[in-house]
Amino acid sequence: MSSLRQLIPLPRNAFRYLCLFTALANGLGNLFLLVFYRPLFEWLGVPLPQDIHSFAFVAGFSFTVGVLAFLVFLNPEKNVNLLTIGIIGKGIYAFFTFYFYVFGHLHWFYLIFGIWDAVYVVIFFLFLIQLLSPDLTNFNRGDVFIGLEREQTNRALFLVFSLTGTGRSGMERIKTGLERHGYHVDIASIESGEHIFHFPMSVLDFVQIVIRAIFRRPAHITPLGIPANHPYDLIVVESQTWLVGMSAPVEAVFQDPANRAIFEGRDVAVLNVCRGAWRRSQAMLVRWVQRCGANVVGVRAFAHIGWEPSRLFSLWFYLIYREAGRPHFLDGFVQPRYGLSDDTLAQLELFGEDLAQRKRVIWYRSTVV
Ligand SMILES: Cc1cc2nc3c(=O)[nH]c(=O)nc-3n(C[C@H](O)[C@H](O)[C@H](O)COP(=O)(O)O)c2cc1C
Repeated sequence: MSSLRQLIPLPRNAFRYLCLFTALANGLGNLFLLVFYRPLFEWLGVPLPQDIHSFAFVAGFSFTVGVLAFLVFLNPEKNVNLLTIGIIGKGIYAFFTFYFYVFGHLHWFYLIFGIWDAVYVVIFFLFLIQLLSPDLTNFNRGDVFIGLEREQTNRALFLVFSLTGTGRSGMERIKTGLERHGYHVDIASIESGEHIFHFPMSVLDFVQIVIRAIFRRPAHITPLGIPANHPYDLIVVESQTWLVGMSAPVEAVFQDPANRAIFEGRDVAVLNVCRGAWRRSQAMLVRWVQRCGANVVGVRAFAHIGWEPSRLFSLWFYLIYREAGRPHFLDGFVQPRYGLSDDTLAQLELFGEDLAQRKRVIWYRSTVV
């Protein structure tokens, strides 16, 4: 059930009402603050603002962000760019709130607004992705789409780069599903000569991956050596999430123009794995595949087993200890297992079966006529 929920994105209306919620909170909250800050602050023990002008300016700015959110609520498609402004505005506010709370003795009362805005940065971001990529919402409903009319060879090519084995375990189950229906699967590992893209990794390697992911610096990979006229009627490509984007070695496949012909005019399925944030990496991978002229027949994304923040800490501990369930003194908090759940893996096997049995354009036409 939990894995199923990961597949179904929040409906458009849920995002709209979340926008209305912050519109009311920002709008009414700031009016309330401006009028009643004295009794409220005295009651809570919050020091009165030293600079009442700046206090009023910030309240006015925050009120404006509320208006912005209200406009998004009224017509999200027309006002989609306002979400970007909202992300920047709330992000900056949240950053400075946390900064001054840690380094500037800011009263905890202001932290409430910082947390609120940080949460809304994520909500706005997810809504933005949904609005900019409505096709991804369809892909994530869990269907397998109609394949192209070309020779059915029952051979599939898997492109795999898996640092800690999560993506590989998912791909193995897709393979099992495909093979059950007569497919032969070849796995092409995406290899990088750069030492940082190997597991186990040092803290320095991790930091380098993170910095490179922030600046989206491409990775060097060994040439795939797959000709454009390959015999595969299906390609399955997977990527993990690194810093809310697809991983550099997988992206390198698409950044090399020589590889693009591999995907052109082919049926391609996509798998994303992550600790918890897969939407952007999925959008990036699907867009790359589409830009290469492929026909996307299936899209799946799955997060690690567990709940937050346990999932996040379990990932870090796994990278440090290279073993799930450690450190033992955190039993009950740290996840005893790293990666995908059994339920997720079973779903991926079914995905493989569905891909093998996907309808082709030729079949579709003959039934319609
Ligand atoms: C450097 C690094 C950065 C990561 N950043 C994210 C992230 O931003 N969001 C997320 O959900 N998971 C993140 N993860 C977790 C991976 O996506 C997750 O562990 C995934 O299962 C790894 O797949 P793999 O074992 O196939 O490489 C990160 C992992 C690493 C090593």
